[in-house]
Amino acid sequence: MATVEDTNTVTAAMGEPVRRRDFINIAAVSFAGVGAGAIALPLINQMNPSADVLALASIEVDVSAIAVGSAIKTEFRKQPLFIRHLKPEEIEAANKVDVASLREPQTLAERTQPGKENYLITMGVCTHLGCVPLGAADGEVKGEYDGYFCPCHGSHYDTAGRIRKGPAPTNLVVPEYAFTSDTVVKIG
Ligand code: FES
Repeated sequence: MATVEDTNTVTAAMGEPVRRRDFINIAAVSFAGVGAGAIALPLINQMNPSADVLALASIEVDVSAIAVGSAIKTEFRKQPLFIRHLKPEEIEAANKVDVASLREPQTLAERTQPGKENYLITMGVCTHLGCVPLGAADGEVKGEYDGYFCPCHGSHYDTAGRIRKGPAPTNLVVPEYAFTSDTVVKIG
């Protein structure tokens, strides 16, 4: 004779008995899963960057107008960016340094692109607390190592933008970049 327990039992595909209440719970969870998926898709689409944001993600700069020994300050992703056209003496000074003695050991070659070691491209943001160092504009103090000087708490960077003295913990950040022609660099 069938019992109450039997009437509340349905058979799952694997042959395991599943009580009706469990079946209803599973069905409800599955539905919720489908619902969440359907809602998630438009949300993810909304989170995709717009064309404007993508355009801001990278910039192109023609460096041909930067005289040897000069630098320009521009903006990349809403932060200052320095592009310096290094003089041969500045390159030499950077290469003479014992890299092992540096707080963040990096060669100039590691901070520039092959064949374009004369262009030093760094963020213009001090790695201590984020001030904008001096040294990019003509006549500005460049610090004891002839690179950049952060006046906020006295960090000195050398001609490769490496931290040499003061509280900044690391070198000026080199963003991702590539030369798309002899004179045009794409940053980001
Ligand atoms: S923010 Fe540059 S030294 Fe402190």
